[in-house]
Amino acid sequence: MKIGILTSGGDCPGLNAVIRGAVLKGVRIHDDEFVGIRNGWRGLVDGDFMALDRHSVRGLSKQGGTILGSSRTNPFEGEHGGPENIQKRLDAQGIDAIIAIGGEGTLAAAQRLTDAGIKIVGVPKTIDNDLAATDYSFGFDTAVEIATEAIDRLRTTAESHGRCMVIEVMGRHVGWIALHSGMAGGAHAILIPEQPQTIEQICEWVEHVRDRGRAPVIVVSEGFLLAGMEEAHSHKGLDAFNRPRLGGIGELIAPMIEERTGIESRATVLGHTQRGGAPSAYDRVLATRLGMAAIDAIQAEQWGSMVSLKGTEIEIVSIKEATGGLKTVPQDRYDEAAVLFG
Ligand code: F6P
Repeated sequence: MKIGILTSGGDCPGLNAVIRGAVLKGVRIHDDEFVGIRNGWRGLVDGDFMALDRHSVRGLSKQGGTILGSSRTNPFEGEHGGPENIQKRLDAQGIDAIIAIGGEGTLAAAQRLTDAGIKIVGVPKTIDNDLAATDYSFGFDTAVEIATEAIDRLRTTAESHGRCMVIEVMGRHVGWIALHSGMAGGAHAILIPEQPQTIEQICEWVEHVRDRGRAPVIVVSEGFLLAGMEEAHSHKGLDAFNRPRLGGIGELIAPMIEERTGIESRATVLGHTQRGGAPSAYDRVLATRLGMAAIDAIQAEQWGSMVSLKGTEIEIVSIKEATGGLKTVPQDRYDEAAVLFG
């Protein structure tokens, strides 16, 4: 079988480990051949391919980013020629099937291409951990590690100066990174999109901490909304999915805290540091297993399927299951963390 692999959407530590897992299993077990598709769907619609063999994946499991490049191109938006153009590109290369590694947008496009008769297997990718139908996605553990280290570092400087630190982490729609890094780093409040809070409540937590003689540490997801202050949220246009691109919630909250409590406050936006660099050991293993399982799904001709982690097992589910809605932080997980606030 000749298999094309693409990585699409925002990059994520572990993408290269998926590619390596798939190529090594395909070559060693089934004598498959591989072709790299450059820059996500864009490479497929433009016919931009690269050689991909067992030598090109040597040592890749620890390498951040993606050797294939990525883009947010959607094959169904703009003048891309639709599934007919893609099938033509695949035929010209002799590609039988595609492994599409991506998040919600990528998988939704993969489903539509599957419906049009193109043979695709999906691999879930998101540092936000918001994809349904998989317990965890690779990249999340690494992002949480990076955020936790940053919280630990910011705490010592906060304590030295008696300041309040507001640390903004990624998570446009869900608060998983904030919840996990905030718990790991001992944050005094964790603010997530699923649970809007008032500035009064946040200041109450901050003051409790100050009254105990400690420096308050607040972790906030970039998608968090201040309850009752929707107009205060600036947004920087629309993202690739036509959703508001929020602009600096941490930098909005820090001066409000300072003004209301009198505690000097600073905001730090961790941004893309959470997506860069080497994946954690956990993510390398998960990504490698998912890449290998994608080969199994192809062998079984399970088109329109996605490999996923359920408990400790890798399973094959339908892409439809994964794109039916985001996996948000449930109330009980938030309540559990909230016992530690203030
Ligand atoms: O979806 C992953 C993610 O890292 C989000 O947490 C973040 O909001 C977004 O991508 C950033 O996208 P971009 O790299 O296009 O700015």
